[in-house]
Amino acid sequence: MAERIAEEKINEIRQAVDIVEVISDYVQLKKQGRNYFGLCPFHGENTPSFSVSSDKQIFHCFGCGAGGNVFSFLMELEGYSFQETAVMLAKKANIELDLPSSSFSKESSVPNDFQLMVEAHDLLRKFYHHLLVNTKDGQHALEYLLNRGFTLEAIEKFQIGYALNSWDFVFKFLSKRNYQPAILEKAGLIIKREKDGSYFDRFRDRIMFPILDAKGNTVAFSGRSLGAGEPKYLNSPETAIFNKSKILYNFHLARAAIRKSRQMVLFEGFADCIAANRAGIENGVATMGTSLTDDHVVLIRRNAESVTICYDSDNAGIEAAYRAATLLTESGTQVKIAVMPDGNDPDDYIKKYGTDKFNHEVIGSSLTFMAFKLLYLKRGKDLQNEGNRLQYIEEVLREISQLDKAVERDHYLRQLASEFSISLEALKEQQKQIYYANRKNNRGKQASGLNQSFVPQKSAEPLRPAFHNAERRLISYMMRDPNIAYKVQDMLNGHPFNVDEHQAIITYLYGYYEKGMEPDPSQFINFLEDDHLRRIVANIEMMSISEELTEQELSDYIKQVLNHQKMLKIKEKEAEEKEAERQKDFIKAAQIAMEIIQLRKSLKT
Ligand code: UTP
Ligand code: MN
Repeated sequence: MAERIAEEKINEIRQAVDIVEVISDYVQLKKQGRNYFGLCPFHGENTPSFSVSSDKQIFHCFGCGAGGNVFSFLMELEGYSFQETAVMLAKKANIELDLPSSSFSKESSVPNDFQLMVEAHDLLRKFYHHLLVNTKDGQHALEYLLNRGFTLEAIEKFQIGYALNSWDFVFKFLSKRNYQPAILEKAGLIIKREKDGSYFDRFRDRIMFPILDAKGNTVAFSGRSLGAGEPKYLNSPETAIFNKSKILYNFHLARAAIRKSRQMVLFEGFADCIAANRAGIENGVATMGTSLTDDHVVLIRRNAESVTICYDSDNAGIEAAYRAATLLTESGTQVKIAVMPDGNDPDDYIKKYGTDKFNHEVIGSSLTFMAFKLLYLKRGKDLQNEGNRLQYIEEVLREISQLDKAVERDHYLRQLASEFSISLEALKEQQKQIYYANRKNNRGKQASGLNQSFVPQKSAEPLRPAFHNAERRLISYMMRDPNIAYKVQDMLNGHPFNVDEHQAIITYLYGYYEKGMEPDPSQFINFLEDDHLRRIVANIEMMSISEELTEQELSDYIKQVLNHQKMLKIKEKEAEEKEAERQKDFIKAAQIAMEIIQLRKSLKT
């Protein structure tokens, strides 16, 4: 680290921010008893097993084991460094923090590949943008965009640019600035020729859309051909800084709006995302030409409670919307689906009908997933045909049976009854039959995540041997009171804890107290340098009971810790005894047997 932030400063920051408040920006928390619970942002789940303690200023997930204090939370979730986190929290708490500007986002004086790749992308983004907006070379590209309805404002906001029609412009531009060809190739910006090892630019004569990660780093480009050139969009390859299945286009800009409303709009293409932005949709993001992945779903769920899917209304778009809606619903996200007249994508629609109509008749009139399914199931069926019609009704009843709310079921049953002039009673009867048949098949299976009540999940804590629990208890008391910590040290008389991690934790703990620090779980967590140990401490803290420790309990715990080592010793001796007998060394065997008896005796005291 370039310049360490003073410990007092870190503590000042830590004390000024409330972990519950910080985490609430990411996770919807509900108070239950002393702690807060919510859906864990570190793994996908439908029932909350993520807990935050306001008293202790720590968090812990009983599902995946993530845990720590406010610093580790942001470091893990946002990928910030410790310094970046400190800077961010200081800002939040209005605490002045003087850092040399170079220490932010640059950990060491020697930039690593990651930083170089991002820097090269950032530089190019600015240069491509300049070429588009200010130069004659980019004029035809600018005209193309303006003709398509892109505004200058959007071109600025999304930092759209133009790559010259040249084989080596980027190569020269960046080489001159001391970027090594190997790095640029790794970054996907240039390509090596097989035959002579020379390089050429990946992107030539294309409109350049920079792709930014959640932190605002430029990590990739997508270049659109101006005419009919193939492919229509040429994307950066997957690199160390760019992973298509994790990134959402425009997430960086949309984040604030998403957090505020807990809602987002999901598009298939970034032209759509940009056009919708013109219609005032600030919380729009787009996948990068891939279908929605599990990683996307986790990212979305972490940031929003409800998502409006606004995909193309062609066949592929409808299928993709159905699939995305299913995945998101399973993750516990509320889903709505915006539909447009046949064959349009949002960008076309806005160009044809304007932003107002898009807001009202597309986004504003988006359907529930169920209403969308009614349309979806109709596709490819001739409802004048009796067979098709009955099949459709049966499929819809099946979907209705999946709905948890009686009011909703009733609503769709009535709609179906009136659409096909069938008696409501008959439909209800048939729907019940389907429901009970399903229930028989699904007995034991989990209900859908959507309407599950907000009850913290029973912790799936592993069963631990007695000595292991004894050590955990001891650590929890030792963290609360230095006197107990030193007492334990005396009683153990040089014997370590049996679990390596526990021994590491108490070693840190003595170091912490030696420095004159007060007991404080959250502060102690900052003191630990290993993430694995932080998690264990958070787990122990969350599980611990706050009772007085009696002398009797204390000595029982110590005994369990020491006995475990003796038990291991006895096992070892027993093996030696057997070996001696095997070698017919009966004197040695008898000696070992005596030692075993001594050890056994000492176990009881
Ligand atoms: P579309 O073909 O729907 O393009 O692809 P679009 O968004 O309507 O773009 P315009 O309006 O023709 O300019 C949707 C998304 O699929 C990816 C891109 O991410 C695009 O935004 N895609 C498409 C590619 O990656 N490569 C392609 O060749 C085409
Ligand atoms: Mn389009």
